[in-house]
Amino acid sequence: MSAKHNVIFTIAPGGNLQGSLRVPGDKSISHRSIMLGALAEGVTEVSGFLQGEDNLATLNAFRALGVKIEGPDKGKVTIHGVGMDGLKAPTAPLDLGNSGTAMRLLCGLLAAQAFDCVLTGDASLSTRPMRRVTEPLARMGAKVETSATGTPPLTCHGGRALKGFEYEMPVASAQVKSCLLLAGLFAMGETCVIEPAPTRDHTERMLMGFGYPVDVDGKRICVAGGGKLTATSIDVPADISSAAFFLVGASICPGADLLLEHVGINPTRDGVINILRLMGADIELLNRREMGGEPVADIRVRYSPLKGITIPEAQVPLAIDEFPVLFVAAACAEGETVLTGARELRVKESDRIQVMADGLRILGVDATPTEDGMVIQGGKIGSGRLQSHGDHRIAMAFAMASLRASGPIEIEDCANVNTSFPDFVGLATGVGLKVTQVSA
Ligand code: S3P
Repeated sequence: MSAKHNVIFTIAPGGNLQGSLRVPGDKSISHRSIMLGALAEGVTEVSGFLQGEDNLATLNAFRALGVKIEGPDKGKVTIHGVGMDGLKAPTAPLDLGNSGTAMRLLCGLLAAQAFDCVLTGDASLSTRPMRRVTEPLARMGAKVETSATGTPPLTCHGGRALKGFEYEMPVASAQVKSCLLLAGLFAMGETCVIEPAPTRDHTERMLMGFGYPVDVDGKRICVAGGGKLTATSIDVPADISSAAFFLVGASICPGADLLLEHVGINPTRDGVINILRLMGADIELLNRREMGGEPVADIRVRYSPLKGITIPEAQVPLAIDEFPVLFVAAACAEGETVLTGARELRVKESDRIQVMADGLRILGVDATPTEDGMVIQGGKIGSGRLQSHGDHRIAMAFAMASLRASGPIEIEDCANVNTSFPDFVGLATGVGLKVTQVSA
């Protein structure tokens, strides 16, 4: 576990978002590009790779597993694939930092290898639930140990022959789905995962891009073991989860007019656009195109008065990472916003229901956390000193609240913004947010 400096964001009230920007690459797609590129035969070239700490943890893990990887250099990565049987035993535990995606996906892949391997993470990752992957993996014949409470570190025991199976997932989780599909690549027979609701489908799309057949029939997704991946090139679009801060920022900021370039708008990720539009946001998708199997667009967003809504539960998995900043949108909307069916938010990088409610209340917002969501009455945003609890998305969400605040907002513990959005302060300042950072 690495100790980090306490980075503090200070944001002056007001500001106006204008101009255009390209936010960094998609985190989910960047992780998968390394994983599948490593297992492929041949050389995979990636551009637009997110050079955030989470993805660098995945990249370094694969280097430790014997894969030659060049870069990252300005988003370019070259992966010399070792094929399905080419990974080597690492000489030390793999430290996956803050990244739940890296840990859960790697766990599926490593449970099927010939060697043993230990996966560790930082203080936050070390509290996150892992039985959601280790239990179904055990049904495939894998042996992965957790702590007594079901958290990391994980010990993946190698040399076990996995068998395909059918699994009805109790939670809508792309990480669980992807973990089992990756294990399924190495299993005998077919592995089928049934989702309770659609979740991000980057693994399925990218497997097909590497020439690996995936059978998708509604909520049932199957792969057969024993195939191979063929190297390809991957252009990673800008991350809609990072664009989300600016979609909300411009929506709540009178006079704002912003163009977000080359953003991934995969329909399993576009809940933030759907929810903001239901609230009355002015969002236009321009120049829609398809890049390497993923839909992409430039997004124009202009200020528009928002109104409170009851968020449709079907949108929850499609916007699962965007709720911290959607809560800020709700706080600036007229009337009441109600979120239900989002219990998963309690086991993200922080308990995002409690931490956001605590922060909003410090800013004078009437926010009531519930077991599986939140009720927020829109109103005025005050000022104050807030805790992000080391959660990147909490820090950036509260930074956007300053656009409507009556005084300065200070946010503690922001170092982890680098896990998903390197140079957030630089890019946000460039379009008009009055944010500065100090490292204590
Ligand atoms: C991710 C899936 C989501 C999301 C996470 C990234 C992925 O988690 O919250 O940030 O890349 O598969 P769950 O699938 O567990 O909801």
